[in-house]
Amino acid sequence: MASVTLEKLRKSYEAFVTIHDIDLDIADGEFIVLVGPSGCGKSTTLRMIAGLETISSGQVMIDGKRVNDLQPGERDIAMVFQNYALYPHLSVADNITFGLRLRKTGKAEIDERLKRTAEILGLQDLLGRKPRQLSGGQRQRVAMGRALIRNPSVFLFDEPLSNLDAKLRVQMRTEIKELHSRIPTTTVYVTHDQIEAMTLADRVVVMNKGRIEQIAPPEELYSNPATRFVAGFIGSPGMNFFDATIVADEKEISIRLPDNQTLSVPGTRTELFRPHTGKAMVVGVRPEHFSVVAKEGRDTLKIETALVEPLGMDTLAHFKIAGLDVVSRLMPIPGLKANTPLTLNVDMSKIHLIDPASDRVLG
Ligand SMILES: Nc1ncnc2c1ncn2[C@@H]1O[C@H](COP(=O)(O)OP(=O)(O)O)[C@@H](O)[C@H]1O
Ligand SMILES: [Mg+2]
Repeated sequence: MASVTLEKLRKSYEAFVTIHDIDLDIADGEFIVLVGPSGCGKSTTLRMIAGLETISSGQVMIDGKRVNDLQPGERDIAMVFQNYALYPHLSVADNITFGLRLRKTGKAEIDERLKRTAEILGLQDLLGRKPRQLSGGQRQRVAMGRALIRNPSVFLFDEPLSNLDAKLRVQMRTEIKELHSRIPTTTVYVTHDQIEAMTLADRVVVMNKGRIEQIAPPEELYSNPATRFVAGFIGSPGMNFFDATIVADEKEISIRLPDNQTLSVPGTRTELFRPHTGKAMVVGVRPEHFSVVAKEGRDTLKIETALVEPLGMDTLAHFKIAGLDVVSRLMPIPGLKANTPLTLNVDMSKIHLIDPASDRVLG
């Protein structure tokens, strides 16, 4: 096992910088997920760690040792790709042991390691098959077997579940997590799927346009996003953002929404809002922080439902505030339809105040 450190790691293609001097410290045995939208630089970062992509500047260290100039095969890492990259003409056993045979590992040792790897991944009965005789999930397991058998210091995964259907993806996600708890090898896992990121990671690294927006454990990303980007990216449906003016009178501080409805800021949070009195700010509210109430109050909104989506456990009710689409996640209301007036409470202890100039979440 090993730690992995990225120091001012940069990738540029001629004048075009795709990875902007990122710093990241990954502890021995940690499961780190790089998440972000397509094109944000996740694969490029992973491939620089693997040695499959040249490093423009900065460095990659594995267990404190600079590996910039080492070949992929010299870095003691194993990588699993989205497309599995299995050899179609080789059996499962030969695919898994390919790397060991290449390194002229002894037959007895290969057999022993194959047996153990197949057991861990539940592949014992499939060892004689060819990849085309396997399901997508089984192929993915073979690809993992090929990485696992080498007993590397670091596992790198690039969107390994993206080609699987939704149900299998959840199952494989659980298997990867179980595998890591049994064999806690340092792992860097790339995905664009925030649910995968949240469920798998010890810490999530949110990337945007070649930069790191935030590094934090999943719960913290959800409750304390550092930037508007993270606030909007983590959570489904995503956070609602309102242009709001902070207003104060003798009694209290409130936020005024674009349709002139106001919500009062609770006493515990006035210190955060007060310095921004009179200013145009952005306020973020998660869909789950709305709830239906019978009576109007100082922290309620009057709305009229647009689209209503009953999901069973809860209901997504869409509505508009000054023409802006807003979505709320409500307790199920049997028979709730579009065009129904509702009074919604906003949990003001949970709203986020965002500085529109920097897009940073304050407080
Ligand atoms: N060979 C290349 N030349 C120029 N730009 C590239 C090259 N390879 C990747 N890029 C750019 O680098 C950025 C990051 O790509 P990538 O790391 O694949 O993103 P992700 O894996 O997050 O989807 C993208 O904007 C992509 O267009
Ligand atoms: Mg990618």
